[in-house]
Amino acid sequence: MKFFLDSANLQELRAAAAWGILDGVTTNPSLIAKEGVPVEEQVRRICDLIDGDVSAEVLSLSTQEMIAEGRSLAKIHKNVVVKIPLIAEGVQAIHALAKEGIRVNVTLCFSAAQALVAAKAGAYMVSPFVGRVDDLGLSGVEMVRDILTIYRNYGFQTQVLAASCRGPRHVIEVAKAGAHIVTLPFKVLEQMFCHPLTEKGLEQFLSDHRKAFDLVTA
Ligand code: G3P
Repeated sequence: MKFFLDSANLQELRAAAAWGILDGVTTNPSLIAKEGVPVEEQVRRICDLIDGDVSAEVLSLSTQEMIAEGRSLAKIHKNVVVKIPLIAEGVQAIHALAKEGIRVNVTLCFSAAQALVAAKAGAYMVSPFVGRVDDLGLSGVEMVRDILTIYRNYGFQTQVLAASCRGPRHVIEVAKAGAHIVTLPFKVLEQMFCHPLTEKGLEQFLSDHRKAFDLVTA
């Protein structure tokens, strides 16, 4: 399973990359806005830092503008994956960009039906928003399972990138379902390996060692 960081913050990206477990990055307009740097510039900085897919989202709403914006985002760096929202105008843009060989991550996916459309349009990745579906009182993980079943049934190559994951439980559930990629906020990535019992156990081991060592050298 690939781990992506859902962040446009260079400090977080550097820290996650240093752990050696980072395969790529997803950004969205809200995350880039937090950094206060123009989109193209921030995407270029991220691509210079991380060797992996970097998703950058279009801001336009009409098909032709999305296509033009997608082309210019794709020119920033070979690792850029263009994020297109799953709206009617977006479907046509996904198809047009995919035909040109531009890789598209279809975002704001909230149902298996939308994911099926994304795959048929030629998406490289689809991003089902697990946490936001849970917020509606439905099951985001169930949606991911359905998408994977449908893709398997018909041999679609579109990768399923589980987004809007709010904690390690979501990650484990989508990993069990077989999602190809999960994108995580920095806090959730940390939560994946930080455990209070690990801290406590380590403290105990070291204190036992110190006691024994002190006895020997006393
Ligand atoms: O990047 C899209 C997605 O991961 C957003 O997550 O927590 O705002 O629902 P969230």
